[in-house]
Amino acid sequence: MSEKVKLAPSILSADFASLGAAVEEVTQYGADYIHVDVMDGHFVPPITIGHETVKAIRKHTSVPLDVHLMIESPERQVDNFAQAGANIITVHVEACTHLHRLVARIKELGVKAGVSLNPSTPLEAVTEILPFLDLVLVMTVNPGYGGQAFIGEMLDKIARLRSLMDERKIGAELEVDGGINADIAPRVVQAGGTVIVAGSAIFNAREPVAQTMKRMRNAIGGVS
Ligand code: DX5
Ligand code: ZN
Repeated sequence: MSEKVKLAPSILSADFASLGAAVEEVTQYGADYIHVDVMDGHFVPPITIGHETVKAIRKHTSVPLDVHLMIESPERQVDNFAQAGANIITVHVEACTHLHRLVARIKELGVKAGVSLNPSTPLEAVTEILPFLDLVLVMTVNPGYGGQAFIGEMLDKIARLRSLMDERKIGAELEVDGGINADIAPRVVQAGGTVIVAGSAIFNAREPVAQTMKRMRNAIGGVS
């Protein structure tokens, strides 16, 4: 794969009182996607962002909104998020009974469809749906919180998924999410990740976002 690896800052670690400004800032510094973590208090304990917030931040950027639904019954919400301006909607395989139908619905809404796997979920859970996807998201932390430690064993899972996708000529993006900083990012890219999500590594109080964006971009290779 010679295409540039994409950087997707997660606004979960941004100041929720100034989300518009946060989105504008990462847009200015070359974000390829804006990763939006939606949590419902059921699939994962916290409650974060709903579709009204997605609609509000939509006005602050033209960068694609990559909406990661960590929610139960996602089929009840995809229309709302599509209307709010999501460009990619990713649902969790663990939350879906009729995954193929839901993926078809997301595409029907004119949105790219992604499916995510928790760290303990085997790759087999997505092998049948892979040909229908625009994106597959491998979680490298247990979803629910920003700032957790990267689970090193997931590098092998990413590499196995990469081989499987190459073997079957699946052109979907392979996104990796959770605990990625500039030290870990090169290993994720090496394993085959094509979209790198980073929350706390981008939005932290110690350094300006201009600096952290640059550091992450260098770590994944290539300038925006
Ligand atoms: C975890 C979220 C991730 C996470 C990324 O539930 O899906 O997007 O917040 O943040 P960091 O990079 O801090 O792990
Ligand atoms: Zn996420």
